[in-house]
Parts: sequence; C-alpha cells; structure tokens
Amino acid sequence: MQNKEVYDELVSKFEQKYGKKPDIVAYAPGRIEVLGNHTDYNEGYVFSAAIDKGTFFAVSASEDTSCELTAGDLMETAKFDISNVAPAKEMTWQNYVTGTFNWLFDGAPAKALKGWKGMFLGNIPLGAGLSSSAALEMCTVLALSKLYGVEKTKTEMAKIGQKAEHTFAGCPCGLLDQASSMYGEEGSLVQSDFRTNEFKTVSMGPSVAFMMVKSNAKHALVDGAYASRRQACEDAAKHFADVLRGKKVTHLRDVTMAEWVLYRGGLDETKAKRAVHPIGEDERVVQGAGLLAKGDLAAFGALMYDSHESSRNWFENSCEELDAIVDAAKAIPEVYGARLSGGGFGGSCCLLVDPSAADKIAAQITREYKAKFGDEPICSLIKPSKGAHLV
Ligand code: GLA
Repeated sequence: MQNKEVYDELVSKFEQKYGKKPDIVAYAPGRIEVLGNHTDYNEGYVFSAAIDKGTFFAVSASEDTSCELTAGDLMETAKFDISNVAPAKEMTWQNYVTGTFNWLFDGAPAKALKGWKGMFLGNIPLGAGLSSSAALEMCTVLALSKLYGVEKTKTEMAKIGQKAEHTFAGCPCGLLDQASSMYGEEGSLVQSDFRTNEFKTVSMGPSVAFMMVKSNAKHALVDGAYASRRQACEDAAKHFADVLRGKKVTHLRDVTMAEWVLYRGGLDETKAKRAVHPIGEDERVVQGAGLLAKGDLAAFGALMYDSHESSRNWFENSCEELDAIVDAAKAIPEVYGARLSGGGFGGSCCLLVDPSAADKIAAQITREYKAKFGDEPICSLIKPSKGAHLV
C-alpha cells in the first residue's frame, strides 16, 4: 500500500479518538499539472498526473444524526448535525469535507438520515499547488458514498468535489484537480478533455520522471487572483462570440490563435493578454500528445517551457520565485522542460527530468534559488501514481 505509514497513523488515531476501528477508509492522491494551464474551465485540454502523495479519510457511521470530523494532523474536531451542514468560518479545513458531504446528497444532507464520525490525514505539502484540497474531497466522496451505498461515477464524484470548492471553500476552480486525483494511473499521464469530460491515460516510459520544486512563495487561490483570471477568460470568450459571427463560441476552447491575432483588437489589453494563454495552452497540449506518442521528450519539454513563458508574460500568474526555478532548470541538460503547475501565484514548478540525474538537478536548482532568495526550495521526485480508491 502506498503511504502505509500515514494510513497506520490515521487508523491508530481514529481508534484513540472514537474508541473503535473505522468502517471504511479511502485514499486519494494529489496531482501535478504537466501541460495545459487554466484550460479546464475554458473547456480545453490538460496533461496531468496523480502523484505518490495523498490523503486518507477514515469513517464510521453514527448511531444518530450527529457528525464529528477530526483533522488528524491538528487533532481538532468539528461537530455538526446532518440537518445543519454549512460553510464554516473557523477551522475552515472542514469545508472541503462538509461541502463534499453536502453535494453527495444534492445539497440536502439530512437525506442521509444518519451521521458519521470521520478523520483525515495526508502527506501532501499544503500550499504547494499539489491539490491537497481536491485529494481530501476525493477520499471523502469515495468513503461517504461507500458508507451510504450511493452509486456515483468517477466524473460525478469529481464534480461533487468541485462544487464543494465553489460553494464551501470559495474557489471557482475547474475540474482538473479532482479529475486527476480520480483518474490517475501508475506510470501514466492523464489526458483530459474538459469539454467532453473524457479522461484517458498515456503511459510514460521508465526513463522519465517528474520533479516538483516547491517555492516558498505563498499560494492561495481563494484570495481573488484565480477568480479574476477566470472572469477575464469568460469576458474574452463573450467578445469572440460576438465578433466571430457564424462560429459557435461558448468558451476560449473555440477560439484559435489566428482568430485571437485578428480579433483581439476589440478587447481591452489585459483581457487580450489573459485570453491568449489558454488558447496557446490548448494548442500545446494537442501538439504535445503527438510528441509524446513519438517519444520526443525534448520537444515535449520545449512546450513546457513555452507554457511557462505564456504564464509569465500573458496570464501573469507566475512570480519571481517560480521564474527563477524555471530559469535555473533551463540550464540543466537533464531537464527536458519546466513550468509552473496549477493555479500559480506561488506554489510549485513541475520539471520533466531524467531521473538518474535527480540529485544533480536538485542540488543545482537549490543552489541558485538560495543565492537569490536566501532560503531553499523543496525538490521531490514524483512518480505518477494510481488514482483514488477504497483501502
Ligand atoms: C487550480 C484549479 C484547477 C485549474 C488549475 C490551473 O489547480 O483548481 O481547476 O484551473 O488551477 O490549470
């Protein structure tokens, strides 16, 4: 079992706290985003992978309608009744779980009839842009749907987690994080189409790996920057729908780079800059799929560098720290490509690397980052791993 030490700690803490072993335990991994940034809510394409770190959720049924939820790291407990499930202003970690519970029952969790006692524990670094919150939602939805005997598909479960983010956590995210956590497979990338919600896996050879480099720059998607980028994309899509008469445009997915060049004039400068990022990312993912099929890692990696430049210059969701990591990576021959991963504004970079050179790469990036910022980034080799499952 992956991350067995976390599972063992959770089960033993659960027993201490609630006096018996859990009925059900589920596991869900975090994710890295490899190519296709801010494309999910524009109904575009992404390459991502589930990672080898994740979160476990352990749960047992209550005798009555009461619920108890404990954060296994802090050992703080939130208590509520199934008739009173609402976003919390304190101990806000509970919102990912309670929001998921709420939407598993279509917003009427009293329909569950009985409550539960749950606890979660994981090893995904927080604030790293590795989707610890989606992992928590996905292990929650798996465990609770099993507990209550509610049948849901993987995509439906992913959407329940996304709704929890929107309504309980306050982040208007796309479906990428939840879908990657659900559909990941060992040694594979997840190739997603967020218009059709088709998710397929593409196997990667053993000669490549990913390295995540966590900057120490803050990453918080609920503070408005993410929402403002999404809004700008939606406004731009409306503009293109107006000017591209005769073509059905509902999202930036429908707009080509050539159309952006020709028709960007009517958009204000900032919105034009925001719009070109997901448009270019979609093209890069399509191109990248062909390159991966041919095993051309160098060319695929070059697209990752292009993606980062697009974030840096157009979408402006990078920061000095992430730029420094990518610039350092570019000088290392054993790194094929590097870019920021996820929402941006801090968090981590994702590097496609030759794993036999991992120590050298980590040492060189750490040295250069430290010379600039005084502290050290965290470099970890990531193995694409199996998606969410019951334990
Ligand atoms: C965050 C969001 C995702 C996606 C990425 C950017 O991780 O939660 O839905 O938009 O940012 O690609």
